[in-house]
Amino acid sequence: MDDSLNLVSADFLQSTLSTKYIGRPTLYYKTTTSTNTLGFQKSESGTPHGTVILADQQTHGKGRLGRTWHSPTKKNLYFSIVLTQLIEQSLISWIPLLSGVVLAECLESASALPIYLKWPNDVLCRDKKLAGILCEGKQKQGNLWTYVVGIGVNMNSDEGDFPQELRLKATSLAAESRHQYNIQAFLSTFLEKFETRYEHLLNSGIHDIRSQYILRCQTLHQSVLVYDLTGTQLKGYAVNIDTDGALQIIPSEPKQSDTPISIRSGDVYHVR
Ligand code: BTN
Repeated sequence: MDDSLNLVSADFLQSTLSTKYIGRPTLYYKTTTSTNTLGFQKSESGTPHGTVILADQQTHGKGRLGRTWHSPTKKNLYFSIVLTQLIEQSLISWIPLLSGVVLAECLESASALPIYLKWPNDVLCRDKKLAGILCEGKQKQGNLWTYVVGIGVNMNSDEGDFPQELRLKATSLAAESRHQYNIQAFLSTFLEKFETRYEHLLNSGIHDIRSQYILRCQTLHQSVLVYDLTGTQLKGYAVNIDTDGALQIIPSEPKQSDTPISIRSGDVYHVR
């Protein structure tokens, strides 16, 4: 494999980026615990809105719902975007979904593979997980907030790089396409598209991103099994994405009803 594809240089990234504030600066680490954790630490010391934390490896990579994110060195992409400017409450729940749409589009145009989203923002290729997004928010003093968008993309790892228990569920761009990808070029394309979509969300609201998300979302129009944060199980048919980004399902078990209910967090499984 050409090792230069996996090398990341924050200087090079800064000089090629055409963004206004996303990725300015990009702080690069060979290894860190978690780029999300570091993002919150940096925001405490006043790092600018849009700062990106990028690492070759994470020792304590975090996944959704308290899981860990397997983060071996160099072959994959691990980064977090630190957002510190307050935005309207009703738009915040769209940031994870917007990140998923932008990521899916970038992965699809880099590889020509079919890329879909599982609600809320698992990025899937041929039913296996290719990338994950963990968004975390914390209130600082007063009404100041820090919101961190953490993204992990399996780019150049081989099937053998995944632990045994993940091999049937996870994949990488390289494993699916038999190609190697330039991590740095991918990241700069993502950051540019993210900034454009983020500004569009702030200026024009959710209409466009909601339509784009609905087109990408594989969870819609099929039977799903949902576990909420307490582990309670619910079966139903996924019908829509609400204006706040919630998944609307028509429940079938334990109680059947014709009225859709909105799921705002939890773990969703597609039932075939
Ligand atoms: C998921 O469970 O699907 C979310 C995974 C998110 C992983 C990324 S890797 C970069 C950032 N730092 C972390 O600790 N987690 C996110």
